[in-house]
Amino acid sequence: MLTDGFLEITKRPRRNRKSDALRSLIQETRLHPNDFVAPFFVVEGSCKKIPILSMPGVFRFSIDELLKELTGYVDIGIRAINLFCYTPEEKKDSLGSEARREGNLLQQAIKMIKNKYPELLVMADIALDPFTDHGHDGIVINHRVANDPTIEALSEMALRAAEAGCDVVSPSDMMDGRIGYIRKALDKAGFHDVGILSYAAKYASAFYGPFRDALDSAPKFGDKKNYQMNPANSREALLECALDEEEGADMLLIKPALTNLDILAKVRQQTMLPLGAYQVSGEYAMIKVAAEKGILDEKRAFFESLLAIKRAGADFIFTYAAKQVAEEL
Ligand code: PBG
Repeated sequence: MLTDGFLEITKRPRRNRKSDALRSLIQETRLHPNDFVAPFFVVEGSCKKIPILSMPGVFRFSIDELLKELTGYVDIGIRAINLFCYTPEEKKDSLGSEARREGNLLQQAIKMIKNKYPELLVMADIALDPFTDHGHDGIVINHRVANDPTIEALSEMALRAAEAGCDVVSPSDMMDGRIGYIRKALDKAGFHDVGILSYAAKYASAFYGPFRDALDSAPKFGDKKNYQMNPANSREALLECALDEEEGADMLLIKPALTNLDILAKVRQQTMLPLGAYQVSGEYAMIKVAAEKGILDEKRAFFESLLAIKRAGADFIFTYAAKQVAEEL
């Protein structure tokens, strides 16, 4: 007969994994629908729900369709969203003027969402890349994104969002000094209650590919390496986070998430501010497409990666899988 337990092993950690009840009793990290920020892509027009081929299950919504879609999110306990606007080619220019135009799509979307769902936390991505004809996150002078003119433009974009009722603006551009500049601009205009979530450590990443399909925002020349960070560096991330905190950020964000869990854990040690991570489009697409091909179990893969992100130190997570995961919780 086969037996077990005949060796003198006094420490047996497997005892704590014996049953589902025991495993769940000692579980250190748990996901909750309130942990998630759901990103949305908004397009002009009405009755539009356009699938994004590289992000199965994600769509560009016109505002009317987005308002319908949000009901399912709110009902399931998701309380925060982040908005990105799709700009048709003919409205793009070298300065990203559409981002700062009064009455633009971002303002319309924020107003209508806050009107229908006043309790929902509405954040707006602040960066020029979806609005510029060259696809860079700012104003280009001599083939380089110029820092100071860009942060001036970004502060105007943030003001438009605040005027429309946005709760939190999320600058994702990685220019220097933009948190302090935007904070001053908001305060001067009376928006001292509008928060700033800084994409504080944002790496130049291959994992943003599907997002750039979603917004047709891939850079037309060069890359983003002279403003987004080198994935080889970690001290630089700590510096970026410390500066944004000093400049007045209310919350910090690290992205991508899964390739930067070490950064999350380190920043968690350094700051008392709320800390988030962005499970970016490429991270989402990898799981979705592998699952479609039967290569991995989608539900388990999302749970495992989101748990790991939270375990590493994230208080909240931007994820395109927010609703499908929340449904399982
Ligand atoms: C815009 C922005 C990007 C993402 C968020 N804000 C793209 C980029 O910097 O090129 C990526 C998000 C994702 O991949 O899901 N500055």
